[in-house]
Amino acid sequence: MNFELKTLDLHAAATHKTDALIILVTANDQPSKGVLGQLISDARKSGDLDASPAKLLSIWRPQGVTAARVLLVSSGDGTARVVRQAVTAAVTSLKTAAPAHVTVCLADASQHRLQAAAQAVADASYVYTATKPSAKASGLKRVVLALPTAEKTKSAKPEFELARAQVAGVSLAKEWGNRPANYATPTHLAQVAKDLGKKSGIHCQVLGPKDIEKLGMGSFAAVARGSVEPLRFIVLQYAGAAKSVAPTVLVGKGITFDTGGISLKPGPGMDEMKFDMCGAASVLGTFEALSHLKPAINVVGLIPTCENMPDGTALKPGDVVTSMSGQTIEVLNTDAEGRLILCDALTYATRFKPRAVIDIATLTGACVISLGHLRSGLFSPSDELANALFAAGEAALDPCWRLPLDEEYAEGLKSNFADVANVAGREGGSITAAKFLQRFAKDYPWAHLDIAGSAWKSGAAKGATGRPVGLLLQYLLTTQAKKKAA
Ligand code: BES
Ligand code: MN
Ligand code: ZN
Repeated sequence: MNFELKTLDLHAAATHKTDALIILVTANDQPSKGVLGQLISDARKSGDLDASPAKLLSIWRPQGVTAARVLLVSSGDGTARVVRQAVTAAVTSLKTAAPAHVTVCLADASQHRLQAAAQAVADASYVYTATKPSAKASGLKRVVLALPTAEKTKSAKPEFELARAQVAGVSLAKEWGNRPANYATPTHLAQVAKDLGKKSGIHCQVLGPKDIEKLGMGSFAAVARGSVEPLRFIVLQYAGAAKSVAPTVLVGKGITFDTGGISLKPGPGMDEMKFDMCGAASVLGTFEALSHLKPAINVVGLIPTCENMPDGTALKPGDVVTSMSGQTIEVLNTDAEGRLILCDALTYATRFKPRAVIDIATLTGACVISLGHLRSGLFSPSDELANALFAAGEAALDPCWRLPLDEEYAEGLKSNFADVANVAGREGGSITAAKFLQRFAKDYPWAHLDIAGSAWKSGAAKGATGRPVGLLLQYLLTTQAKKKAA
C-alpha cells in the first residue's frame, strides 16, 4: 500500500481522479461553495449527515465529481480518535467495491489526525492471506491523504512520514502475530530479524542454544527444553546516532506457542496462544518503522524466542533453574514462562548501558481481567519513564495505564528452595509478574508493558492488532528529540 500526501481543497477534490473520495466533515466546518460543498450542506440540511461520530453517507456517481464514489463521513469534534473511527467506517463500507485507489480529505493534520487516518485505512483494509488461499487479498494500492492548503500539507510532512512508517511497522507486527505457530517458529522470527538486518542502519545477530548456554541463560534455556524447535535469541541494533549515545532497549516476549508446558493450559481457546509472540512482533515492527524513518537515535531490540511445550524433557513444577543474573528460580508453574525467558534478556540488556529498557509481553491473563482489551498494562518504578510512555500511548491512540509496583506485592514470590519463585498467588497476577521482572531490571530505568489484552482480538474478529508499535515509535521519537533540545 502506497501513501501519498497531497493538497486538495473541496474544489480540487471534485475533479481528483480516485476510486473513492472520503471526505471527513467536522461539526464546525465552514460551508464551502462548489459541487462538494453543496453536497455537504444539502446532506446536512436534509438530516442525512448529522454530526454524530462516524455517521456515513455514501453517494454513487454524484454529478460534477470525477470519483465514482463519494463518502461523506462525520468526524464529530475532529479529534484523532474520531478521525480513526470515521475513516474505519468509510473504508469498511468499501469492502465489496474493493477500490484500488482511495483519497481521504482531512480538514487538518495536526494532533496526530493524519497518523490516525493512515492507520485506520491500513487496519480496515487488512486481509490475512498467508495461510488462507481462498481469502481475497486487499486490492488497495494507493492511498492519498489530502489537506486543503499547501501550507497545511507542508507542515504535515513529518507527521506523514511518521504515519507511513507506523503503518509499515504495525502491519509487520500484525502479520507475524497472525501467522500460526507452525508458520512462525523461533527460526522464522529470526529470519524476519535477519531480513531487517539487511536494511541500512540495522544490524542483526541471532544466537542459538549453544550461545545461550555459554551466556548462562539457564532460565530461558529451561523453557525451550520441552520443544523440538530450537530457541533463538535475536539481537537487533538500530544505529541512527553516535556510538556514545545510550540506546533504548526494547525486549519482546517471543513465545511462538504457549501450551503452558507441564502445567498444561485447558484446551478451549488454546489456539490463541500462537499470539504469545506479539511482544516480539512489536519489536520487529518498531525496527521496520525505524528503517523507514531513520531517526537520530540508537535502539536495541532483544527477542528471546522459543515454544513452551510439555515433553519428557520439559521443565517440571518445582524445578529450580539458574538465571543469567545468578539468581535461582523455583518454577512453581511452567505456564508462567514469559517471565522466565524475559529475565535473562533483561540481564543481557545491561551490557548496552541503556538509557531505558522497555519490555513488551503478553504476560498475564490477569492483565486482561483488569484492563480488558483497550489499554496495555504499564509498570515502571520511574515516574519520568512511565509518564513518557503513557503520553506516547495517548498520542498514538495506543493507550496504556500505569499499575503499581509496591514492594509488598513481591511477598508471594518468596521460595523455600530458590532465591525467588516464578509465581505468587492468583491475586494481582499482573503486578506480581512485574515484580518478578523488576528483580532483573535494577541496572537501568525500566518499564514493562503487559499487552496480553491489547495485542490481539478474540471472537469473530480474531487477529493481531500490531500494538504497541504505535506507542513505542511515538515514545522513541518524541522523548529523545525532547532530550536533545533540553
Ligand atoms: N501467555 C500467557 C498469558 C496470557 C494468558 C495472555 C491469556 C493472554 C491471555 C502467560 O504465559 C501465562 O500463561 N500466564 C499465566 C501466569 C500464571 C500461571 C501465574 C496466566 O496468566 O494464567
Ligand atoms: Mn504461559
Ligand atoms: Zn505465555
